[in-house]
Amino acid sequence: MEEFFRIQGAGGKKTLKGDFVVSGAKNAALKMFGAAFLFADGFEMRNVPEIEDIRSVAALAEKSGLTAKRVGEGKWQVGPAKGEIWKMDEELSRKIRASIVLTGPILSRFGKVEFSFPGGCNIGKRPIDQFLDGYRAMGAKVSEVEQEKVLNVTITAPKGGLRGAEIFMRNPSHTATETLMMAGVLARGKTVLKNAAMEPEIVALAEYLVACGAAISGAGTPTIEIVGGKLLKASGRPYVTIPDRIEAGSIIVLASLLGKKVTIRNCEPCHLDALIAALKLCGVRITTGPDFVEIFDSGKNYRLPDKSLTIKTQGYPGFPTDLQAPMISFFTQVDGDSVVFETIFESRLEYIQDLVKMGASIVTVSNNQAFIHGSTPLVGKEMKSLDLRSGMAFVIAGLLAKGESLVHNAYNIDRGYANIEGRLKNIGAKIERVRVEP
Ligand code: EPU
Repeated sequence: MEEFFRIQGAGGKKTLKGDFVVSGAKNAALKMFGAAFLFADGFEMRNVPEIEDIRSVAALAEKSGLTAKRVGEGKWQVGPAKGEIWKMDEELSRKIRASIVLTGPILSRFGKVEFSFPGGCNIGKRPIDQFLDGYRAMGAKVSEVEQEKVLNVTITAPKGGLRGAEIFMRNPSHTATETLMMAGVLARGKTVLKNAAMEPEIVALAEYLVACGAAISGAGTPTIEIVGGKLLKASGRPYVTIPDRIEAGSIIVLASLLGKKVTIRNCEPCHLDALIAALKLCGVRITTGPDFVEIFDSGKNYRLPDKSLTIKTQGYPGFPTDLQAPMISFFTQVDGDSVVFETIFESRLEYIQDLVKMGASIVTVSNNQAFIHGSTPLVGKEMKSLDLRSGMAFVIAGLLAKGESLVHNAYNIDRGYANIEGRLKNIGAKIERVRVEP
């Protein structure tokens, strides 16, 4: 069944009003289905987003021998592991990028893991070399076999289990940091991750593991130290998912464009400093509280300071790549010339051609650099979301444009934003989901 969004745009008028409540972070909750392999007992997860990627990773963890049951709205009971199953389901591990995160805990616990090259959003090559090099440094043997265009990888720990090691990351990778950090939890001796990524989801993971007995220090800085030990114990301690900073950021951008007064609740404004600073520079009226962000109509057109602004996507606390597409949609409505460099992924600007069809003045000079001349009115069009975040950018552009837009491949958006149409309708957006029987 094909599903798409039909959107009636506001033609630039600021009409949105009310509260938007942010879900738990996809990129935090996903990893806990891997972390559970490090535990002797199970734990309850709370504030888990009701999205497709969570259902996929839960199915993958179950097939890999873990108990993973949804026990209520946003609640999952995860673990303990039922047996030593180290072969991960091929189809499910290819479906989502987060499947790679399970390899660290499974390898560390059972001494072996077999998986297929992970999938996920189509935004670039997304190599796994840093994971494999990390495992090699910890004494493991890696063998890769390509069969009918599928790369199957088997990793075997040395006798007695993984050994702690010093690992320098060529690129501070978010998931590789989490995965190697977890591999270190049951390894022998000390693991030091240098040039590690610093995303808040990594810190949240480390804090929960430490509360359950792990010896990890430095998460949130470029150097993380892990001293390996015994299986962890949750002992009834629930895991509460931190707010999704990318969902919050996407709605902050939307509210900046179309909000009369919108309050984004249950978020961590301090995780969004890079976005909020850029929006303020352009004239957006934003106030922040401990767990909310409020956006008011300033009654003025937005303009770039000195008529130009350059943004580079970077690892946290820099400007997040996952907000690059929403931000470019925003820049189409700001007087001046902005430049956006996408430095994390190779193919994350392809959606721009559809914004141009809507009337945006954007030139891409390479796979990773876009010049935006604003402001230009947008008109509604028919678009196909290419990945999760560009799909959200189309929803934002559609709500802003004059007339009707259709955003196809709704499933891409559903992977990361739960019931987005319902929650946007609550603040006055005109959006509906259309289901077409094949
Ligand atoms: N990289 C390597 N080798 C590796 C791993 C990564 O060269 O072995 C490179 C990548 O090619 C990229 C850079 O390192 O150039 C950073 O990518 P990273 O590994 O940090 O990305 P990721 O861990 O695969 C996570 C999120 C992404 C988010 C990025 C950046 C999850 C499941 N995914 O991906 O989320 O964009 O970090 O913050 O946590 C999304 O939610 O839409 C999404 C794509």
